[in-house]
Amino acid sequence: MAKSNSEVSRFDAKSTNRDDEVATTSAVLNLPPREIPETVAMATVGEATVISVVNQKGGVGKTTTTINLGAALAELGRRVLLIDFDPQHSLSVGVGVATNRLEGSIYNLMMDESTKIEDFLLKTSVPGMDMIPSHEDLAGTEGGLMNVIAREQILKRVIEPVKADYDVILIDCQPSLGLLTINALTASDGVIVPLECEYFALRGVALLSDIIGKVQKNTNPDLKLIGILPTMFDRKTTHSRDVLERISEAFPEHVFDTIIGRTVRFSESTVKGEPITSYASSSSGASAYRRLARELISIGGTK
Ligand SMILES: Nc1ncnc2c1ncn2[C@@H]1O[C@H](COP(=O)(O)OP(=O)(O)O)[C@@H](O)[C@H]1O
Ligand SMILES: [Mg+2]
Repeated sequence: MAKSNSEVSRFDAKSTNRDDEVATTSAVLNLPPREIPETVAMATVGEATVISVVNQKGGVGKTTTTINLGAALAELGRRVLLIDFDPQHSLSVGVGVATNRLEGSIYNLMMDESTKIEDFLLKTSVPGMDMIPSHEDLAGTEGGLMNVIAREQILKRVIEPVKADYDVILIDCQPSLGLLTINALTASDGVIVPLECEYFALRGVALLSDIIGKVQKNTNPDLKLIGILPTMFDRKTTHSRDVLERISEAFPEHVFDTIIGRTVRFSESTVKGEPITSYASSSSGASAYRRLARELISIGGTK
């Protein structure tokens, strides 16, 4: 049967449906299964939903999530913009941008009001997914903006002109809760927090919740916590399961059903400068991010 034009199936993507290979919170914790629709409606018109991927801990899967969720959303017909907002620029490397030959980065956009975001957009290898690179200089922003009025609002102003050109903008934050992260949260509609399924994963989450609350109170009352994303989950250990249980006790309403398992495929794809959805299209890692993209749309986290 022909598919209706208003629906995009994941069968349009390069690989077939492998949801059954993806670990889920409901299955691991013996909760009623959550069905994620196979198809999603086309994006509605209007401005992009802006989502920050935040955790002040490094190595929890923020950059991996930004790249691969972005690529999976692009497969679903979304126009996606990724913003590398970490001076360590791993996202730029992960999508294959040669950062040593860059003409400009998000740093220039943050520091120089005369720059235009349109001049800094780069295409990625994924059709429908663009990005803005980062640079080590971005680390100097915090000091450089010390005396600037409304310094929490700069990124919001920077992205405003292109919001109508995208369906979703994902911001990959640096592992800190400083001024850059506050800029990202101020510019965002929602937040996704990747949490590694390891002991101490929840350490620091109270501080993060605190910052989100402060941003809601002071610069962005509409900011929402979209979800906590369990990452690096290892099916073979009871340890991962215990941690997942604690995460879902701490955030009963906010844990994504889709879990990202631990697999070396992610570091391999970073080295190749490609998302896992194209580097290893039929791997379980690719399936997990595809399911996450459909889950995000189905819970209204993005259009
Ligand atoms: N689910 C996963 N399984 C195994 N390795 C992963 C997974 N997600 C990310 N990685 C790897 O772990 C490292 C840190 O991930 P990254 O996304 O850069 O974290 P962050 O941006 O939070 O610092 C990278 O080498 C990445 O390839
Ligand atoms: Mg990172």
